[in-house]
Formats: sequence, C-alpha cells, structure tokens
Amino acid sequence: MGKEDRDQWIVKCPKCGRVRQSCRHVSRDDVQIIVRLLDAGVEVYQADDEREAPEPHVHEPVRPLAQTVKPRFTMRDLVLADGTREGLLDALAELRHKGLMYRRWGLKKVVKKTKGLSLLFAGPPGTGKTMAAEAIAHELGRPLHVVNYAQLENMWVGETEKNIEHVFHAALEGGAVLFFDEADAVFQRRGVMATPWMNRDVNVLLTQIENFPGVVILATNLARVMDRALDRRIDIAVEFPLPEANLRREIFRRLVPKEAPLAKGVDFEALAAKYALSGGSILNVVRQAMRNSLRRGKRHRITMDDFVRAADREMKKSALLSTDHLQEAPRRERIRGYA
Ligand SMILES: Nc1ncnc2c1ncn2[C@@H]1O[C@H](COP(=O)(O)OP(=O)(O)OP(=O)(O)O)[C@@H](O)[C@H]1O
Ligand SMILES: [Mg+2]
Repeated sequence: MGKEDRDQWIVKCPKCGRVRQSCRHVSRDDVQIIVRLLDAGVEVYQADDEREAPEPHVHEPVRPLAQTVKPRFTMRDLVLADGTREGLLDALAELRHKGLMYRRWGLKKVVKKTKGLSLLFAGPPGTGKTMAAEAIAHELGRPLHVVNYAQLENMWVGETEKNIEHVFHAALEGGAVLFFDEADAVFQRRGVMATPWMNRDVNVLLTQIENFPGVVILATNLARVMDRALDRRIDIAVEFPLPEANLRREIFRRLVPKEAPLAKGVDFEALAAKYALSGGSILNVVRQAMRNSLRRGKRHRITMDDFVRAADREMKKSALLSTDHLQEAPRRERIRGYA
C-alpha cells in the first residue's frame, strides 16, 4: 500500500460511520492508536483465505542507511603525490580553523551561513580514496558514516527523499563525516547512461550537500561521468592518480609489516620500478607473496621470487578483469596495410 493510500485511511465506527477524531464508541486515543498501527503496516483480515501474500518490503530486514565506521587510518599512513596531499591539507586547514575563517575573518557575512565542506576524491581503484576519507575523519576525531545506496533507494514515492534527508540529519547529529563511496552510482550525468536514480532524488541530494553544515566526502573512479551540477557544490576536488615508482616503493615498505620474515635480496625499489601498480594492488601482491612463501612451509622466508611471481600475477589479474568475457575478442583484419 502506497503512502497516498495511507493518507486517506479512514477509521470507521460500526455505529457512527466515519470517525474523524473520536465518537461515543471510539475515543480520540483509540483513533490515534489505530492510525499508528495502520501506519506501521498492521493489517486485519476476516478470514484466513482473504490473506494476501505478504508484500516483501514489509519483511525486509531493516539495515541502517549508513554504516558508522571508526576511522583506522591516519594521514601518516597515506603515501601520496604532492598535489593529493595538498588538497587534503587544505581541507584540514579549513576544518580546523573554521571558527576563525567564518567569524573573526568575517566569511560568514559574505556567505550568509556557516558552510560545511564538500570534497570530491577522484582516481583509479586502489589509490587511497577510502583510506583518505578515514584519515580526514580521524584527524577531526569524528566517526565516518558510509552511505548505503541500496538502503537509501525506496520504491515508494517520496521515501528515498526522506531517507536522504535522514542520512544527512543523522550525520549532523552524530558529528560524523559523511562518505558517499562510488558516488558515480548516484551522481551520474543525466543522459550519459540510464541513470539508476531519479532526477528528483539526485536534486534532493545536491541540495542537501549544498546546505549541509558538516563535512561530506564523495569518492569516484569515474569523475568524467559525474553530473556537472555537482561541480558547483564541491568545495575541494582532490585527484588520486596512480602512484609513480618512488611512491610505489614507499607503499611497498609501508605494506610489508616489520614482522614479515624477508629473505635477503628482496628489493622493493626494483619491484616498484618494474610494476606499475596501485596501492591496493600492492597490498594484494604482499599477501600473495606471503601465500607463495607459506606454500613452501611456515619456516621459509619470503623471497624476491615470491614477490615477483605475485606481482606478475597481479598484473595479469588486471588484464583478465578488463577483458569482456561475454563478447568475442574483436577480430582484427588487415585491410590494405591498415590493421
Ligand atoms: N596512497 C596509499 N598509501 C598507502 N596505502 C595505500 C594507498 N592507496 C592504497 N593503499 C592500500 O590499498 C588499500 C586499498 O585502498 P583504498 O580502499 O583506500 O582505495 P580506493 O581508492 O578507495 O579504491 P576504490 O576506488 O576501489 O574504492 C588500502 O587499505 C591500503 O592498504
Ligand atoms: Mg574505496
């Protein structure tokens, strides 16, 4: 039953007919209780055979609209290109000195309200965007609310809008940093592809971001397909490029724990120079190298060869995942000298 139907629910007394607030037989409290029960989805039937199959939404387990995460990473855990770090430090400078900027330096008079801060983290997978969102929250001593899109969306008219408002409200109440991971899922430019989200709901989101006095972070691998209406609402856009060789070496150093028994000759510099991998892929390489070593036995050290085989495998994995297995490989025919 939709919301429209619910708004028209009528309480009917068997003696007096339609009852607005109360009658001789049904008190005002009774009416309120009945309406509350109907609103909660309670249904009353005369006989068993009249019972319809239950509507699935009534029985869905209730999951939170956003997951609260206690940040584990700090700014020091992140290995970043200078430009990326600058963007994050700019954000932290404003957040730490917001009072000074808005009150003592008078920014409030110009913008007429205490604005929050909206950040966009854009870059390929595994470059540290989620980590950075946690690090920002950590630096501010706040929890991170990671939005759950599947739960926000609701088939009933107006319910998605309510959910969106609730998520922003809850983040404000909890003093949390609000994080929209894989934000392209909702903020995809209209007309690029079939948008999974209705325009109206995207507009509600944009308005909420604009008026949110807290910190909101959006992360995406696909900045190009994002709705251009978002540009104006983003205060600081931070690019997370794939790391260069010197940063990759540093990431290798950070991600191989001190306790891990390395054999002589493990050369992170050589690995970093040879394999153009993201931080996330380097983490996979480290784990695979450990597995390679463990397969020889617990007392063996992790060798350079374990790392090389793991890195080769990780490079192949990206090639494998980027292949479309549903379609035949495009046939290349030579046409008069042109491939
Ligand atoms: N810049 C980095 N510095 C240090 N470690 C990194 C960095 N980037 C990635 N890592 C490692 O890779 C893991 C995955 O990174 P993260 O989840 O932050 O990537 P992401 O950019 O959010 O990827 P996706 O776009 O797939 O969500 C991290 O937990 C960390 O171990
Ligand atoms: Mg991520």
